[in-house]
Amino acid sequence: MSEPAVDTLTEAEAVAELARLSTELAHHDALYHTEDAPEISDADYDALKRRALAIEARFPTLTTETSPSQAVGAAVSTQFAPVRHGVPMLSLDNAFDEDEVRDFVARIARFLKLPVDEPIAFIAEPKIDGLSASLRYEDGVLVQGATRGDGKTGEDVTENLKTLDSIPRTLSGTGWPRVIEIRGEVYAPTDAFDAFNAAAEAEGRRTYANPRNFAAGSLRQKNPKITAGRPLTFFAYAWGEVSEVFAGTQAEALEAFRAWGFQVNDRSRRVEDAAGLIDVYRQLETDRATLGYDIDGVVYKVDRLDWQQRLGFIARSPRWAIAHKFPAQQATTVLEGIDIQVGRTGSLTPVARLHPVTVGGVVVRNATLHNEDEIARKDVRIGDTVTLQRAGDVIPQIVGVVLDRRSPEAVPYVFPTHCPVCGSEAVREGDEVRRRCTGGLICDAQIVERLKHFVGRRAFDIEGLGEKQLIAFHERGWIREPADIFRLARDETRLSILRNEDGYGETSVRNLVAGIQARRTIALDRLIFSLGIRDIGEQTSLLLSRHFGSWAAFQAACLEAASGLPSPEWTQLSVAHGVSPRVMAALAEARLGDADPWPDAPLDQKIALAFPGLAAPARRAIATLATDWNGIRRLAQVARTEGPSATLGEIAGITGVGPVAARALADFFHEPHNRTVVEALIAELDKVEDAERPKSDTPVAGKTVVFTGALERFTRDEAKARAESLGAKVSGSVSKKTDYLVAGPGAGSKLADAQKHGVKVLTEDEWLALIA
Ligand code: IVH
Repeated sequence: MSEPAVDTLTEAEAVAELARLSTELAHHDALYHTEDAPEISDADYDALKRRALAIEARFPTLTTETSPSQAVGAAVSTQFAPVRHGVPMLSLDNAFDEDEVRDFVARIARFLKLPVDEPIAFIAEPKIDGLSASLRYEDGVLVQGATRGDGKTGEDVTENLKTLDSIPRTLSGTGWPRVIEIRGEVYAPTDAFDAFNAAAEAEGRRTYANPRNFAAGSLRQKNPKITAGRPLTFFAYAWGEVSEVFAGTQAEALEAFRAWGFQVNDRSRRVEDAAGLIDVYRQLETDRATLGYDIDGVVYKVDRLDWQQRLGFIARSPRWAIAHKFPAQQATTVLEGIDIQVGRTGSLTPVARLHPVTVGGVVVRNATLHNEDEIARKDVRIGDTVTLQRAGDVIPQIVGVVLDRRSPEAVPYVFPTHCPVCGSEAVREGDEVRRRCTGGLICDAQIVERLKHFVGRRAFDIEGLGEKQLIAFHERGWIREPADIFRLARDETRLSILRNEDGYGETSVRNLVAGIQARRTIALDRLIFSLGIRDIGEQTSLLLSRHFGSWAAFQAACLEAASGLPSPEWTQLSVAHGVSPRVMAALAEARLGDADPWPDAPLDQKIALAFPGLAAPARRAIATLATDWNGIRRLAQVARTEGPSATLGEIAGITGVGPVAARALADFFHEPHNRTVVEALIAELDKVEDAERPKSDTPVAGKTVVFTGALERFTRDEAKARAESLGAKVSGSVSKKTDYLVAGPGAGSKLADAQKHGVKVLTEDEWLALIA
């Protein structure tokens, strides 16, 4: 049956038709969002939605709270204006057990170089399971409210936030800074959430899976009146930009918030050591169900703000806080099958297909089985009853098998040795736990996964180009690499094919092109992340972008690192038992002639004579790698000439990056195909935005500093972090590029190097005076 065109409908017909569509869409929304079991294709869903939106556009008076244009995930793009956070909204590192909490406390004491018996005061606060918001007050008046977004840019939801009773329009009391951004959590009390769902269910409206989704959906409404009707509440616990200092401790800050009219969590406690933190955690875990709102753990924050400042941040989370998560919730269900997913780097991941089961308020149908060793270790068989667990936002996992429910027919699972998508052999390299498809460039699964990663929200975030479109464009042979996406946006032939296609049409094409064009300018960290390089996640990308500042500098370093990769022989030698970097240096320094000076000496003696001062384990390692004098000479030569370039060392030395990621970058840029793909992409872009330079107006900005010897006021880590936060680069070795060597007592070879290169040497006090 063909439906009447929207522009021929009378108002009465439109009312009926919109009601029909709303019910249908609500049904599919519920299947898709809360049960994860869609009945119709995305294209059919989109068609229903488009029809509903067209009716609402024609008869705007029909729009109500329940109408399709108001539903979450509605196909209305860029509903809210972006808000750039002056001070980023950070996330928190997690601790999953008590040892990790004790490590956190010990790390802080070490970093701050505190005497062992010095207490560290913390505030332990319930970790509310809602969504964070930032409220900007100027002269005590609420002027803007924003969601967190990606931490750098959120959405302007001012009008919606103003409808919450717990968010004051003007601040009470006195003593507030002229400008202050109050941050905290928007959440739905559990009672109110249950009541909403019950009423929605009775009326056939959309229900929500949990209070957190409900709070998010309620806040991101186009119509503030709808938000006003939802039972949302706000707890204040942090702040962003402030014009003046207003507190000396977290406890004082919370008190100030309370005095200014905010709700502050009354279960927050001040304690002085790890044991105190754990007590608060256990108590909250016991009381969890009776709090009246969902929490998923406890947040520990160093109380003294001057210490918070010294501790600073690593990438996106503070060193002075951690979230101690509650243990996962568990359930049992039947394993119906095992699917093998192929990731963008080719790794084969077994995914459990489960009989649907509710765990902690969410319906779970899939869970990760990690890798083949895990399946074998747990002896998981298809048809087994399994225990699974889900912790917060982490992917559900299979914990184990309920053996007494195993059927006698169940057979051990045999992991495939070939890629299920391209058929190439799948192998395990070295001691890797993952089996990887060797299809690389020809494997469609890898190609599509790389593209998916590329357009993802945390990478290029291309609106209008979702997984579904990407797969379709890949199948047509239109998109194989990132540059193709940008080429498509100016390929009139292909665009006009799309315009004339069912399920696409003029508007979608216009949105797609706009979405692509908008991303011809991209931030450096996003660009690096989007390349999908193994071991280069979002945090590492951010650290790399800050270190190198520009695409040009980053790329030059990667190419240099790639051209100076260590040879396999060097790598084999450097990882041999007993062979430390010092041993490598000793081997490299030895100058051995062609002729064997000790022809009659046995091998082990030759080695001892050739490299005097080497410890026995190193000598034994060499004896296993060389059989004669020529072999010994060769090892010395390898150590001298085949090691990694200094640039690889520079990258590995960036705080938080490390040798594994550095090596992955170098390997990636070593591959000619990758270089071609990257160059083609860059050619399509208008601009790569330089990283935000941490600081350029300090006396040490842009300078390279090396620390050596014992520092007395700070730990090496704090000194390094402080220097970096002031815009300096910290290096591990002295060269002619070094600006300052900060030398404490006991400084050795670096001091000599500094003198050789004419580098300025400072005492710790002189350094402190310089940066004061
Ligand atoms: S402090 C730099 N305190 O947890 C510190 N966060 O996993 C920023 N959250 O994005 C956050 N309760 O949405 C803080 N008492 C609390 C919290 C809390 C819930 C959320 C918040 C944050 C996320 C990090």
